Amino acid sequence: KKIIVLNGPNLNLLGTREPEKYGSSTLADVETLCIDTAKRLGFDVEFLQSNHEGPLIDKIQEAGLAHRAGTVQGIVFNPGAYTHTSVALHDAIAAMSGLPVIEVHISNVHAREAFRHHSYISPVAAGIVIGFGIQGYALAMEGLAQKS
Ligand code: DQA
Repeated sequence: KKIIVLNGPNLNLLGTREPEKYGSSTLADVETLCIDTAKRLGFDVEFLQSNHEGPLIDKIQEAGLAHRAGTVQGIVFNPGAYTHTSVALHDAIAAMSGLPVIEVHISNVHAREAFRHHSYISPVAAGIVIGFGIQGYALAMEGLAQKS
């Protein structure tokens, strides 16, 4: 069974992007952490980063169908700035009823600008992990492993 790890816009720049907020680990480090965590939990892992909404929506729909077929456990999702803007990502998750999506933010968005305090994803998330740096991805995977 597979856990899908999705990352949205600008997360390809992790490591060099505002390191005081997001740390110095790269997206490749996140991938290594997720592979190790998946192994420990007994899951396979698939990784996708996109700077565009479309591929993220396509992957959520694909994962929803695969979840119904029993081959996908759920999604660990850092939607980046789309968190605060995307009705389309909200709707994609809502459409895939039963698919557990764990929302992850590396930084504590609630300690930052007001426009980061609202999430279109949270109302349709099965769980939320905020402010633990890249370790949040591993925590989210542990939580997701317990969901059905
Ligand atoms: C982020 C927080 C968002 O507000 C921001 O737009 C990001 C990264 C985080 O992981 O802390 O791109 O999702």
